Amino acid sequence: MFATSIIAKKRDSQRLTGEEIRFMVEGFVAGAIPDYQMSAWAMAIVCRGMEVDEIAALTDAMLTSGVRMGRTHDRPRVDKHSTGGLGDKVSLVLAPLLACFDVDVPMLSGRGLGITGGTLDKLEAYSGFNCHLSQPQIDRQLDRIGCVIAGTTADIAPADRRLYALRDVTGTVPSIALITSSIMSKKLAASLDALVLDVKFGSAAFMRDLNQARQLADSLCATGQRFGVATRAVLSDMNQPLGRMVGNACEANEAVQVLQGAGPADVRELTLHLSAELLVAAGKFADCELARLALVEALTSGRALARYQAMIAAQGGQFNPQLELAPSSTLTAPSGGWLQQVDGQQIGQTVIGLGGGRMRLEQPIDHTVGLEMMVRIGDRIESQQPLVRIFARSPQAAERAATEILAALTMAEKPVAPLPLIHSL
Ligand code: URA
Repeated sequence: MFATSIIAKKRDSQRLTGEEIRFMVEGFVAGAIPDYQMSAWAMAIVCRGMEVDEIAALTDAMLTSGVRMGRTHDRPRVDKHSTGGLGDKVSLVLAPLLACFDVDVPMLSGRGLGITGGTLDKLEAYSGFNCHLSQPQIDRQLDRIGCVIAGTTADIAPADRRLYALRDVTGTVPSIALITSSIMSKKLAASLDALVLDVKFGSAAFMRDLNQARQLADSLCATGQRFGVATRAVLSDMNQPLGRMVGNACEANEAVQVLQGAGPADVRELTLHLSAELLVAAGKFADCELARLALVEALTSGRALARYQAMIAAQGGQFNPQLELAPSSTLTAPSGGWLQQVDGQQIGQTVIGLGGGRMRLEQPIDHTVGLEMMVRIGDRIESQQPLVRIFARSPQAAERAATEILAALTMAEKPVAPLPLIHSL
């Protein structure tokens, strides 16, 4: 077999065999296939796509380039994956909430890159929190508490790590086949019974429109099912931040509000929806309505918050329900109207500019900065009404952020309908 003929086959829109796909992935990891050939292959996949069988073979090759987490007992193992967006703190609530129902949640998560926030960065807002856990540490924590949120270890899908780095610099990220195999190889390595995918679409999401998001959701679900994991997907709106808070400590504080049975309606709703899907998929409840009732009780009774505190403590963090934030200032509306649009990319860039996000993985971040969005699309806004609270390190940084945020908000003169949060597949 030759890499050149496999690249040419895909370039000519021909279907690849499992053997050919394995040859490329294994050769790449072993160093026998150089970056330039792998990039050409990735570009051929971006342009020509892959069939479901090919995506499954690619996922399998990436998965078996590393190890799979072992199971230490019989409790169902469940997890959620979000394709990323602004203000998405659902994982912080969902993992401890589900752990109240005798399931294990081995959540291997990532750091924020570009405008998408990272769950690990949010948790590291708690002083001392350690997300570098070994497999035995993860197993012990699951045994004791039922949930863990940690970084992916080096031996999980190493082929994906290498290929993703190459895709990032060769314009080959946007491909349903490549995204599916990348996400699913890492999730399958956690030996899950059930997985729910929150596929986001909109101005602050990876997928800008609903149709693209639906295609990705279908591909992810089909691949998960092939590997015997009960996989469900939810399409959710990301045309504005989820909840009010954007920024690391800001979001951890908001997650705690939801764990206390309060918090913004959209964060609570999406968390309950995704959690209910998972509990039903794991066989814990007959339907989502029943699951929801039990989930609400776990929030209002404080059981979920207690699990969260136990998880933070087990990972060396100092829990604080209200982490300290940078000094704040308030941006008010220069004129009245209805909020029509939020440029999510710009809002994300503004948070990065404040120091709350990064453009390169090695960049340090400031956990205390961020934004509180006080208005949502469809809201009637009066002149001088508070729009956004800005948490910044200096008055200059706050002023720069205010100018950028104003440019990112589009107002209308007529009423605007609010956006539905969850769409069916
Ligand atoms: N997230 C991933 O893990 N992989 C991709 O390819 C895109 C988003």
